[in-house]
Amino acid sequence: MSAGVARPVPAQPVPAAPVLSVENLSLAVGPLALVEDVSFDIRPGEMLGLVGESGCGKSVTALSILRLLPEPPIRIASGRILFGERDLAALPLDRMQPLRGREIGMIFQEPMTSLNPVFTIGRQIAEPLRLHLGLGRSAALVRAAELLDLVGLPEPRAALDRYPHQLSGGQRQRAMIAIAIACEPKLLIADEPTTALDVTVQAQVLELISRLRREMGLACLLITHDLGVVAQICERALVMYAGRIVEEAPVLELFRQPRHRYTRALVDTIPARNRPGARLPAIPGQVPAPGARGEGCPFEPRCAAPVSRCGPERPPLAGPWPHRAACWNPAA
Ligand SMILES: Nc1ncnc2c1ncn2[C@@H]1O[C@H](COP(=O)(O)OP(=O)(O)O)[C@@H](O)[C@H]1O
Ligand SMILES: [Mg+2]
Repeated sequence: MSAGVARPVPAQPVPAAPVLSVENLSLAVGPLALVEDVSFDIRPGEMLGLVGESGCGKSVTALSILRLLPEPPIRIASGRILFGERDLAALPLDRMQPLRGREIGMIFQEPMTSLNPVFTIGRQIAEPLRLHLGLGRSAALVRAAELLDLVGLPEPRAALDRYPHQLSGGQRQRAMIAIAIACEPKLLIADEPTTALDVTVQAQVLELISRLRREMGLACLLITHDLGVVAQICERALVMYAGRIVEEAPVLELFRQPRHRYTRALVDTIPARNRPGARLPAIPGQVPAPGARGEGCPFEPRCAAPVSRCGPERPPLAGPWPHRAACWNPAA
């Protein structure tokens, strides 16, 4: 191309609008804040991880999106949950029912508590197909068998007639996933989907979720207390601590250069990064309970490198997107 002639600028792909935008969400029980000022987006086809220790507020955040929180005692104190044109935080509960299972699918940790023990697997998969998509009984069962095949259940036609207790833990979780994706939702929320499974089955189920996400273009929020799970299948992750997002970053960067001292400590506890046989470094102390979180950084009492500001002053989530951290003394 001759000098002086402007090169054509390659068209930049326009980023798709988020499927879900959570804006400044706070959840409370009476005067106690469970979740504070949480914001994040999920785009179509994206697998976003939400990671943090037990009790930090992951499940209540997930349940709030579906409005499945026990309201009361828990209430949405402030913030918006934008899903398409709708603010789910402000939607009357009866308007949520058509969305659940249709536009937003959910997989829970323990399929035994989510599957109904007295109905066959076939009936439980067929139900959302009939309810939301208006399929007749036999068409719904045909589709249910296809879904069981898609999620890798052996002998899917025979599995339709089985009851949950007749399946193994891994098979039950696959059946749960079939129910969650039956109506091809735009968003899938998976709350500790593999925690109850042994390691081999865990890897298979993660691979399944990953494959469905690719093939169906699903946006997925994957919740886990295990940073190793995030490393395996997420593109971007949020790290939650004591009800707040303390770091947000693309996964590779989160592992290579964690900034928040809590993330740094979590990354150091991943077995694969440690020498074989080496003892796992545990993070001393515990997540402070709601009500026991001080004015400053909630991680300060456990932090390996606190500075004087950390006790009295709460650090904001700062830094250029996509990598932000709420830390006064970020790891280099
Ligand atoms: N029904 C409830 N009533 C009151 N507090 C609750 C309820 N459910 C959860 N919590 C509190 O909310 C906080 C966050 O819990 P949760 O979201 O389950 O954490 P995680 O999923 O990260 O382990 C915890 O302090 C927990 O005790
Ligand atoms: Mg939980």
